[in-house]
Amino acid sequence: MKILRELGFSPTTFSETIVVTEISNGIWNCAPMGVRLENDNLYFYIYEGARTLNALRRKKYLTINIVYDVSVFMKCVFKKRSNEELYEPSSKFPIPHIASADAYIECELLSLKEVNGKFKAICKPINVVIKRSIPRTFNRAFPAIIEALIYYTKIKPFKRLKLKRELKKLIERLMHCKYIIKHSTSNREYLEYIEKIISEALKELEEIANSASNGDD
Ligand SMILES: Cc1cc2nc3c(=O)[nH]c(=O)nc-3n(C[C@H](O)[C@H](O)[C@H](O)COP(=O)(O)O)c2cc1C
Repeated sequence: MKILRELGFSPTTFSETIVVTEISNGIWNCAPMGVRLENDNLYFYIYEGARTLNALRRKKYLTINIVYDVSVFMKCVFKKRSNEELYEPSSKFPIPHIASADAYIECELLSLKEVNGKFKAICKPINVVIKRSIPRTFNRAFPAIIEALIYYTKIKPFKRLKLKRELKKLIERLMHCKYIIKHSTSNREYLEYIEKIISEALKELEEIANSASNGDD
């Protein structure tokens, strides 16, 4: 499918998207996922413990959303119970897409196989919808927030694997993301987002510091 390449999907580079699935009847879930192209299909790896994995085990349909709205990434990582405003239903497809997506791909899950402790979800595109046709300028703040969110979501798995040195590095990396944001925007929203990510990360990390000082390790 030429259109997938035109949208930026590639066999070699991850495209950071938002995947929408159904976790139970009419209850939607969104999660950022790094997607690549394989022949005419899209695929991503899901780690054990992600709600997306359980959702795809029960229902074989999903939408892969191209989103440039950083608040959507924030809401999908720091979930609240009612994220309903994020979704726009479709009359023809069982899974909604992200209302503010620039484009979305309605997909059927072809297979979900375990590869080295993670699960490879291969998805067949059924329908591609492009909602926004105006180019955007490039900026440094959006990727810095995405990068910071990736570091934040690595804390739990690193904790499980007891990778203490890696965890320390994550904080340094988060501080670097803050540096980029401070030097590339005066938009309050971005500054609030990076503060939120760092404070949530520190909360997660404090727990390890406490458990180490209690001799739990
Ligand atoms: C930009 C970005 C890309 C991500 N890509 C993946 C991925 O490819 N696979 C994965 O399992 N988790 C990935 N994550 C982490 C998940 O999105 C994160 O753990 C999320 O909370 C899982 O949500 P869920 O439990 O609703 O599925 C990514 C996070 C970010 C911010």
